[in-house]
Amino acid sequence: MALWGGRFSQGADARFKQFNDSLRFDYRLAEQDIQGSMAWARALVKVGVLTAAEQGKLQQALDALLVSVRLDPEQILVSDAEDIHSWVEGKLIDAVGDLGKKLHTGRSRNDQVATDLKLWCKAQGELLAASITALQTGLVGCARAHQHTVLPGYTHLQRAQPVTFSHWALAYVEMLERDHSRLRDALKRLDTSPLGCGALAGTAYAIDREALALDLGFAGATRNSLDSVSDRDHVVELMHVASLSMTHLSRLAEDLIFYNTGEAGFLELSDAVTSGSSLMPQKKNPDALELIRGKAGRVVGAQVAMLMTLKALPLAYNKDMQEDKEGLFDALDTWLDCLDMASLVLVDLKVNAERTKAAAQGGYANATELADYLVAKGIPFREAHHIVGEVVVYAIGVKRPLEGLSLDEFARFSPLIGEDVYPNLELEATLAKRVAKGGVAPQQIAAALDAAEAMLVKRAC
Ligand code: ARG
Repeated sequence: MALWGGRFSQGADARFKQFNDSLRFDYRLAEQDIQGSMAWARALVKVGVLTAAEQGKLQQALDALLVSVRLDPEQILVSDAEDIHSWVEGKLIDAVGDLGKKLHTGRSRNDQVATDLKLWCKAQGELLAASITALQTGLVGCARAHQHTVLPGYTHLQRAQPVTFSHWALAYVEMLERDHSRLRDALKRLDTSPLGCGALAGTAYAIDREALALDLGFAGATRNSLDSVSDRDHVVELMHVASLSMTHLSRLAEDLIFYNTGEAGFLELSDAVTSGSSLMPQKKNPDALELIRGKAGRVVGAQVAMLMTLKALPLAYNKDMQEDKEGLFDALDTWLDCLDMASLVLVDLKVNAERTKAAAQGGYANATELADYLVAKGIPFREAHHIVGEVVVYAIGVKRPLEGLSLDEFARFSPLIGEDVYPNLELEATLAKRVAKGGVAPQQIAAALDAAEAMLVKRAC
């Protein structure tokens, strides 16, 4: 029986009911709905709607229901209740009879669903923050293990200048740090309780909404009832944080997929996160990483879909807003899975330091050093750049690296190039020169690693 049967003389069409009901996905809000109901019952005592004894009975029944749904959340799915709010209320009435019917006094499913969803976001947000931290910890571990492993750095996917594997890993630690900070920021902003706003105009009982908010673990109560029941900014914001972080994860995945190719051969992924081909026996495919890369699109899509749903919705609650949950659940589940999968990929990642070094040595990645060498001899950089361009063309022609050219050969391009050019062209010299903050000089990398480790130790999650 629907919660709103009195006004109707005819039952809902089965197809409409199927279309309208949200229980099959909002059952995930069961715990939050029960917690909200417990707090609402306590608030109703203070305004004289319930006696302490009645509230005690409701609390007992809700406690039992909470234990039961924690044990078996799927039990909810066999019910034909419209949504999780009607399911919880129905169960309460089954357990305590008519007393259960008093709980909805002064409350609406509109403030209820808004409250439940925010409580769910808060809980899910903590899991996500912990998974971001875990992935950062894995990356810092990789960076520590490969502090001095030289890796070619790319721009336009062309070898540009040498970096280190640690520097590469710490770049992703930075991206994830911004994700973490954005997540914390979003969680802080959503930390206000809409409960007690009723359907749209506020509740007709003198509920102390601030106390109720604190009782539920919120930092405070929302200010405007119309806004409170129609606000889904936090859904969009969390999806945005997820989208941007998934974009970061997709870049991490793409880098590793490339490093893992036979052509690059910079690393080998563990058997535990790769799969074979049914036809080609030699294949070991980077499926975990490809799925991370692929799922980024799905999360971004969910965010856009939510924005489109909210666009031009009139105040206050509209059923359109029921569309918030499936996308949000899917986006945040996917993000959490991908963070955890990325951590798993790092566990047994084998870097081939010889290959990365050889690749960093090739590709004329030390051409900038030769230009800087000429600058030190008094040639303006633009001119030096041109000269080195010609040297590179020559070196490609004779199939040798810059350090493989003789002084006679160098002399064809500039008389200023002397014996002291060779140490300047060595990989180590290239790294050592980048001493400014954020660069790849060994002392900068060491400081960056220490700072990242200290940051993670300081943070609980
Ligand atoms: N299932 C609804 C949702 O998820 C709950 C709120 C329903 N409110 C209403 N007035 N029909 O949005």
